[in-house]
Amino acid sequence: MNQYHSIAIDGPSGAGKSTMARALAQEMGYLYVDTGAIYRTVGLAVQRRGVDPQDPQAVEQVLGQVDITMGYGSDGAQRMYLDGEDVSQAIRQHEISHYASQVAALAPVRAFLLSKQRHLAENHNVIMDGRDIGTVVLPQAEVKIFLTADAKDRAQRRYLELLERGQKADLDQILKDVVERDRQDMEREIAPLKKAEDATVVDTTGRGLAESHELLRKAIEAKLGTKEVRP
Ligand code: DC
Repeated sequence: MNQYHSIAIDGPSGAGKSTMARALAQEMGYLYVDTGAIYRTVGLAVQRRGVDPQDPQAVEQVLGQVDITMGYGSDGAQRMYLDGEDVSQAIRQHEISHYASQVAALAPVRAFLLSKQRHLAENHNVIMDGRDIGTVVLPQAEVKIFLTADAKDRAQRRYLELLERGQKADLDQILKDVVERDRQDMEREIAPLKKAEDATVVDTTGRGLAESHELLRKAIEAKLGTKEVRP
């Protein structure tokens, strides 16, 4: 039996999973695992080789040729490496989101990630965020959260984020992209985004970061007890 605790946080993109999961992991002394970043790194590898992200055989070949590793910086932030190069920034490009979503639908890619993710949970207390953590990767997780918000709210957050970074943004286009990515992630055959039966839903629509964070913390405390969450 696993001596470590696992907290699975799933939900659509832009619901605030990574921001809140990272902060909570830091408060609790848990390892934060952003699984989307691993899919993004596969997406980047495929894009750089000019391979079709929907071609399972070609993508599987790429997986055999590259070295994808993760680590943690001195600030505690997760870093992704592709053949030794730190690609933590490069994987955040808009184009890579589409590559990630497409390669994430392929069986060889999901199998490749499954063992990596389980290995981490077998050796650490983890807060792992993604789409299929509570349903497929860690079905035994003590805490499962489905973190969600309206598509409009999520698009608006992304829009403000881009403006804050001084980048140009088109709200209508962002909303279209959000809806399209939701569709891709929910309609794929393997490990689609869906709420685990025993997951607690945390809906952050209309809520700011502090309030959402508190809601999430309460949901985790309800399962693990206050001591584990506020050590
Ligand atoms: O969370 P994110 O936006 O960085 O994830 C990038 C893509 O990876 C997203 O489109 C869905 C996919 N993904 C997945 O299929 N399963 C996960 N556990 C995490 C991410």
